[in-house]
Amino acid sequence: MAEQVQMIDIYIMGKHYQVPEGLTILTALEYCGYRMIRGCGCRAGFCGACATVYNFKNDPQLRYDLACQKTVEQDMYLTQIPFFPAAKALYNLEELKPDGEQVLALYPDLEKCFGCNTCTKTCPQDLEVMWFMSDALRGDIREVANKSFDCVMCGLCAARCPQGLVPYNYALLCRRLYGHYLAPASKHLEDRIAEIEAGKFDAEIEELKRMDESELRRRYAQREIEPAY
Ligand code: FES
Repeated sequence: MAEQVQMIDIYIMGKHYQVPEGLTILTALEYCGYRMIRGCGCRAGFCGACATVYNFKNDPQLRYDLACQKTVEQDMYLTQIPFFPAAKALYNLEELKPDGEQVLALYPDLEKCFGCNTCTKTCPQDLEVMWFMSDALRGDIREVANKSFDCVMCGLCAARCPQGLVPYNYALLCRRLYGHYLAPASKHLEDRIAEIEAGKFDAEIEELKRMDESELRRRYAQREIEPAY
C-alpha cells in the first residue's frame, strides 16, 4: 500500500497552503506555485542567496535560516525578503596591508561590537561569528579567515546585529587579505601554473574546444576523480 504523505499547513504572505511535510522552505514555495528567480541559487546551502525569515502562528518572533536547508513546519509563516544590502567597503586588495588597522580603516564600525553574540546565534552555518569579530579587532587575520571559512555570505548576521554591523563583509575582507598576503604558497599550484604557461595542455584544450556538448558531457562523466578517503 502506498505510504500516505503527511500534509502540513503553512502560510505564504499570509495565504494558507497545505504542503507535504519534509519539503524545504524553498521547495514549499515552489510547490505552492511561486517561481523562484531571485533568492535562490545553489540549493545546497553554499551560495547564501536564499536567506529567509519566518515565524509561527501565535509566535511572532522572527527566525532566520537558509530557505534551501530549513524544512517547513506546521503553522510556519513565510515571506521572502530581498537580499541584505549591507555596507561593503570598496578597496583595491593590492593596496592594502594584512593587519587589524587596515580592517578598522575600512570598517571603523567594527569597534561598536558589544559582544551580544546575536550574530553567532543567527548564523545558519553555526560559525563563531562573534569570536571572529573579536579576532578581527585584534588584527588576527588568519584566525578570522579560518573561523569564517564556511561563510556563505547570506547576510543574516548583519540583519540581526543590533549595532548595524556587517560581520560577513569584515570576514570576506579578512579572507581576501589572508589569501593574498598570508596564506603559504602552494607548491602544487605553482608547478601546475608553470606547466600551463609552458603550453603543456594546449593541445588538449584545443581538442576540448572543438568538441560538441554531448561529447563534452561524456568526457566529463568519465573523467578521473581522486577517490575520497
Ligand atoms: S540556494 Fe544557495 S544557499 Fe540556499
